[in-house]
Amino acid sequence: MRSQAGEQALAPEQIIRAFIGTSLRMIEDAKGGGRNFIRLLGRTYTEPEAQALIRKGKFVIQSRACMDCHTFFGNGAYYGPDLTKAWLDPAWERTWMPMTQQKTREGAMVEFLMHPETYPTWSRQMPDLSITREEAVAVVAYLKWMSAVDANGFPANFGMIKTTSASAEVPAGAPTTPAQANPAEGATLTEAQLMAEGKKGYLAHCAACHQTNGLGIAGTFPPLAAGKLFSASKAMLTPLAERGFYKDGKIVEGALEQHIDIVLHGIPGTPMTAFGAQLDNATIAAIVTFERNSFGNHTGEIVQPHAIGVARAAH
Ligand code: HEC
Ligand code: HEC
Repeated sequence: MRSQAGEQALAPEQIIRAFIGTSLRMIEDAKGGGRNFIRLLGRTYTEPEAQALIRKGKFVIQSRACMDCHTFFGNGAYYGPDLTKAWLDPAWERTWMPMTQQKTREGAMVEFLMHPETYPTWSRQMPDLSITREEAVAVVAYLKWMSAVDANGFPANFGMIKTTSASAEVPAGAPTTPAQANPAEGATLTEAQLMAEGKKGYLAHCAACHQTNGLGIAGTFPPLAAGKLFSASKAMLTPLAERGFYKDGKIVEGALEQHIDIVLHGIPGTPMTAFGAQLDNATIAAIVTFERNSFGNHTGEIVQPHAIGVARAAH
């Protein structure tokens, strides 16, 4: 009964009727669930309670103008990902659950919505919109409900956002990178300055995955401390080994050029985000210096902002 994008058949009439009605029965129709389908964060909602919650989630979404960046049912903008099926995004389990240390997808979504800047997974970041926990729970209910609606095959090919260097390119009209704004850009910084700024940058942009102590999370986010054991799927380990960061079951300190490349362009197909579009040269230089001389790593290498500019130009 599900129609696919590009098919001739139009949406069956009952889908349109269900779409117009706001009844939860739609969820039951779509998933064959019972009356208490909506279970959120350990609580079961009755149908009227769930309806009220979903309605509240919709109001939160309208009041914060989420559509300025996101698309819902084909309407809105594409600065951020399409949210029509966001609840089904495998990244909630693969990336955000371990990042937020939550045991459920709903819990991870609530944490992300309240602190999007703490849990970045993409080259563009979502701003903190001061969403309260109560509002976040309602938004999650709405997103979950929305994912159960038969959207006639859209969005096509739904899946995790690809972390490619292409997606790191800032689209026309988007806010420009802060690169021009940082006065440290052309400067030569001292080791102490780089280490202090690098620690700040690391805590803000990297620690949610690699952890404050640089030891990562087993099986999911690798340690940055060379010599530590790490195992994960082949799809994750192969690109690490290719870049010289993994050997004989352990993380090793790869070459500096590769390190800069990983931070600028991410590791496509894994949660390792491309930071080239959101961090300026001085911040990346400081973070890389900090990483290569912390957590038990002692390369002694000092990276200046200029070197990041050279790496950007060479790619
Ligand atoms: C200024 C633009 C902007 C606004 C406004 C915005 N977002 Fe986002 N949102 C983003 C970007 C960019 C991402 C990708 C961030 C990432 O993955 O780290 C994102 C990611 C998300 C995700 C994760 C999607 C997924 O599955 O990958 C959800 C859910 C989300 N936003 C919900 C909302 C809601 C709800 C609102 C309104 C309350 C909102 N956003 C407002 C830009 C925005
Ligand atoms: C969303 C989670 C996430 C964030 C945020 C993140 N990383 Fe990673 N990072 C990963 C994953 C996952 C891998 C392993 C990819 C693979 O298996 O191929 C990785 C790999 C790496 C590696 C190579 C492997 C190693 O252990 O040394 C480096 C270096 C690295 N990241 C640096 C950073 C830096 C610097 C930042 C912040 C600017 C950062 N990462 C932010 C998830 C993340």
